[in-house]
Amino acid sequence: MQRVKVKELLHWSSKSLANSSSPDIDVWVLLKHALRVDDAWLISNGQTLIKDQDEMRFRELIDSRKRGIPVAYLTNSRQFWSKDLYIDSRVLVPRPETEILVEAVLRCARRFQSPAILELGTGSGAIAIALSSELPDATVTATDISQDALAVAGINLEKHECTSVNLKKADWFSGLESGRFDLICSNPPYVASGDPHLKTPELQHEPESALIAGKDGLDAVRQIVSAASGYLHPRGWLILEHAYDQVMPIQAMMANARFVDIHSEKDLMGHDRVSLGRRPEWPDHAQGRRKPGNADTPIPG
Ligand SMILES: C[S@@+](CC[C@H](N)C(=O)[O-])C[C@H]1O[C@@H](n2cnc3c(N)ncnc32)[C@H](O)[C@@H]1O
Repeated sequence: MQRVKVKELLHWSSKSLANSSSPDIDVWVLLKHALRVDDAWLISNGQTLIKDQDEMRFRELIDSRKRGIPVAYLTNSRQFWSKDLYIDSRVLVPRPETEILVEAVLRCARRFQSPAILELGTGSGAIAIALSSELPDATVTATDISQDALAVAGINLEKHECTSVNLKKADWFSGLESGRFDLICSNPPYVASGDPHLKTPELQHEPESALIAGKDGLDAVRQIVSAASGYLHPRGWLILEHAYDQVMPIQAMMANARFVDIHSEKDLMGHDRVSLGRRPEWPDHAQGRRKPGNADTPIPG
């Protein structure tokens, strides 16, 4: 087999991944992985000839990518909140927009000393690890119904030496102590079972239980919103990521569940992606009968 140069291989494979939304980045990351080199090496070695074995490994990765397997599963790695997480097909690949949820939780957390935080559906542990790295005084309980997901989260907790995060297997709030948390956050499954996006090759490789939540995509949110008050301290916040077109029903669910100061945060495209509500201090607060002297105010954006 005639040996090819790094530059030629990059060019050839970018063209062959034309169906990917980010062919150049995918090829760059996969070639670094196959050659076990870093960005600096790849930038300065365009003319280097590639060993046959490395080229074969790279071509296999490109073939897998063509079948829609996410790059994170092929490299067992994904950056989230500047942390390199171990990722495999047992968990959802953490998305950049989930950092908006982390930012919203951090803003709410400023109001509490040593906040007790609950993250529901932790998957790879991305959110819990980001929160614990920013809030060294916080205790974070991170749950998932999937034992496989908890195994991946465990790998990541160890990798990032996160000793303040406790992992727990739970079906949403099952087995958790009521009235214990200052903040409850989640990026729950929120895709509708008939959503045509589920047919895109990438989503077909991710765990269904991390994506799909009933006919309208709101089953998980419904369960979380209806029970969350019982697990929050008075004045504690519920913070949820959702699809860009779910803000209205989710805000309505929060209002029905008597949350107050309900508002949403936008992603870079200007879509509402995270909704927040606060458990009132007094049960009748939600009906507009505020207790005199109550100084609660919404969290500024
Ligand atoms: C959208 S993924 C989010 C994963 C991770 N937190 C992230 O943002 O990348 C949703 C997670 O919720 C978990 N999940 C689904 N149903 C659940 C349930 N009934 N109780 C607890 N976790 C659940 C899934 O296993 C999955 O890990």
